[in-house]
Amino acid sequence: MFTDTYFKPLFFLLFLFAYQFSWAESQTNGLPVDTIFTFPGTLPTILPNEGSFGTGIIDLGGLEVAQVSISNSTAHRVWTTYEGGRDSMGFSIFELTNNIPRNFFKLGFYAQPNNQKLFGSILVARSKSLVNIRPPEDYIEVGNTTSLKIKQDGPAYVWQPVCLNGYKALGICVTTVPQKPLPTQQYTNCVRSEFTEESEADALLWRIKGVSVFNLRPIKRGTQATGVYTGTFSFQGLSSTPLPPLFSLKNTKLNMYSCMPSKVQTRVLFQTYSPLIYFHPKEDFLPSSVNWFFTNGALLYQKGSKKSPVPIRPNGTNLPQGGSDDDLFWLDYPIVKTLKEKVKRGDLSSTKVYLHIKPMFGGTFTDIVVWIFCPFNGNAHLKFLFIKRLSLGDIGEHIGDWEHVTLRISNFNGKLWRVYFSQHSGGTLMEACDLEYVDGGNKPVIYSSLHGHAMYSKPGLVLQGKGKNGIRNDMERSNKVLDCGLRYEVIAGLSGVVEPPWINYLRKWGPRVRYNVEKSLKGFAKILPRFIRKKLLKFISKIPEEILGENGPTGPKGKLSWTGDEKYS
Ligand SMILES: *[C@@H]1O[C@H](CO)[C@@H](O)[C@H](O)[C@H]1NC(C)=O
Ligand SMILES: *[C@@H]1O[C@H](CO)[C@@H](O)[C@H](O)[C@H]1NC(C)=O
Ligand SMILES: *[C@@H]1O[C@H](CO)[C@@H](O)[C@H](O)[C@H]1NC(C)=O
Repeated sequence: MFTDTYFKPLFFLLFLFAYQFSWAESQTNGLPVDTIFTFPGTLPTILPNEGSFGTGIIDLGGLEVAQVSISNSTAHRVWTTYEGGRDSMGFSIFELTNNIPRNFFKLGFYAQPNNQKLFGSILVARSKSLVNIRPPEDYIEVGNTTSLKIKQDGPAYVWQPVCLNGYKALGICVTTVPQKPLPTQQYTNCVRSEFTEESEADALLWRIKGVSVFNLRPIKRGTQATGVYTGTFSFQGLSSTPLPPLFSLKNTKLNMYSCMPSKVQTRVLFQTYSPLIYFHPKEDFLPSSVNWFFTNGALLYQKGSKKSPVPIRPNGTNLPQGGSDDDLFWLDYPIVKTLKEKVKRGDLSSTKVYLHIKPMFGGTFTDIVVWIFCPFNGNAHLKFLFIKRLSLGDIGEHIGDWEHVTLRISNFNGKLWRVYFSQHSGGTLMEACDLEYVDGGNKPVIYSSLHGHAMYSKPGLVLQGKGKNGIRNDMERSNKVLDCGLRYEVIAGLSGVVEPPWINYLRKWGPRVRYNVEKSLKGFAKILPRFIRKKLLKFISKIPEEILGENGPTGPKGKLSWTGDEKYS
C-alpha cells in the first residue's frame, strides 16, 4: 500500500524526466512547433468524383499546383527565434527539402509561430510549358537579423528573388550564412506575370522591434476572385529601401469550380467537421429553425400598412423576393404576448443549420458557411469600473439574429485549415491546430456568447471595449448544445440546390430599433452616483452601432461575406 501511493508518482516523474530529456536532445526547446499537429479523429475518405477535389493537384490553367504539408519528412527548419510574437514564443522558418512531388518547383519558404503545433502547408507549382516557371536571375538581401537583439539560432539572412521581366516573385527565402544564394539553388522561383495577382499582408506571424512577418494573401478575395493563397510570407521593416512586391498565384481557368467538392463529398466533409455549439447555461434566447419561427407566428410588415401585418407561410413562400435592404418590409413577432415570449426563446430541438458552400482563393479552398438563426438577441451587459455585470436595459436587444461559423477546407486534400467565428460585426479566423475538438473526433467545439450569440473558440469572458471596461461576452459549457451535424440543409452554392424562398428575402429580419440611451440609463443606472452615470453615458454612446445591432439584422445574403471573404482583423 505504501509503495503504491508514494512510488507511483515518483516513477511517473522519473519517466517524464527521462522522456523530456531524450526528446529535448533530438528536438529544440520543447516548443509546441516541435510537434506535428494531427487531427484527433480519422480524416474523411474522399471518393473520387468527376472533378479534381481531393486529388492533391489543382490545375490553375497553364500552371498546376500541389499543396505540401510541412513536416519533418518534407521540410527542414532553417531558423528559429525564441521571443516576440504570439505568447512571446517567437517563430520558425522552414524550407521544403524532401518529398516534393515530381517536377514541381518551390515558390518560397514557410513560416509559423512557435506557440502552435507544426501545422501548415505551402504550394509548389509545375508547368508543361517550361517558360511559365523559371529560376530567379539573382537574389537581393531584404535584410538580416544580426543587429536585432533577440534570442535566435544565430542571424538570419533574408533574400528576395529578382525575376526576369514579365515574371513575378511569390515568396522569400532565408539562410543562416551571409553569402547570397545562387539562383540555381532555386530556393524560390519566378512565375509568369499572367499567372499572378497582387497580394497583401494576411495573419501576423511575428512582430518585434519594428520588424514584422506576415503570411501573404491575394488582395481580391471572394467567390468570383481568382487569387490563390500560396502559404508564403514576407518580412517588413528589415529593409530600409523599398523592395518589389511579392505576388499571389492566379487561377486562370474559366471554370474555377472544377476542384470544388461534389454534393456527396460535401456531406462527408460536413459529417467530419460539423461543429458543436455550446450556449451559456443562463441563455434564454436559443436558436430555432427558420420554419419554426414562421409557423409560430412571425409576421411580415410593410411600410405604409403597419396595422395589417401578414403571417409568414412555411418556407417563407410569401416573403418579398429580391430588392434591397430598404426598410420597405420587415419581420416581427406575433402580437399576442404569450406567443411572442415563446418565439423569443427559440426552440433548440427544431434547430437546423443552413449551409452555404462557396469557393475561396480561386477555388482552391471550400468555405462551408454554417448559418444559425436565433429569433431574438438578448440585451447587452457591461463590465464598467467596479461593476462586474451591468445590464443595459433594452440596449442590444433585437429581433432576428443571424450568426455564422465558417469551415475553410482545402480542395487539395479535404483537410480543415481554418475556422471563422462571427462576433457581432466582425470576427476571428483561427487555425485548425488551435481549436478544441469533440472527444476523439474532428468536430470543433464552439461557444456562443450569452444573449449576443457571438461565436468563440473558448469558454470564459471576452470584453469588447477599452481597457477594463467593455461589453461582456460570456461563454460557458452547458447542456444547451447544438450539434450542427444532426440537422442541416444546404441552401446555396452546390449545383442542383434549390434555394429556399426565405434566403432571397433581402430585407430585415426584425424591425429597426432606436435605443434611447439616456432614457434607458435612467432605468438601469439610477442607483449609480451621478459622475459614474455621466462616464457611463459617454462610454455607451461610443459603442459602434453594429455591435448593438441597432440597424436590425439582414439575412445571410445581405452580408458582404455572402460573395466576399470573411471580415477579420
Ligand atoms: C517526425 O516527427 C515525429 C514526431 O513529431 C516523429 O514521430 C517521427 O519519427 C519523425 N520522423 C522523422 C523522419 O524524423
Ligand atoms: C546586415 O544588415 C545590415 C543592415 O541592417 C547591413 O549593413 C549588413 O551589411 C548586413 N550584413 C550582411 C552580412 O549582409
Ligand atoms: C417547404 O416546406 C415543406 C415542409 O414544411 C417542405 O416539404 C417543402 O419541400 C418546402 N419547399 C421548399 C421549396 O423548400
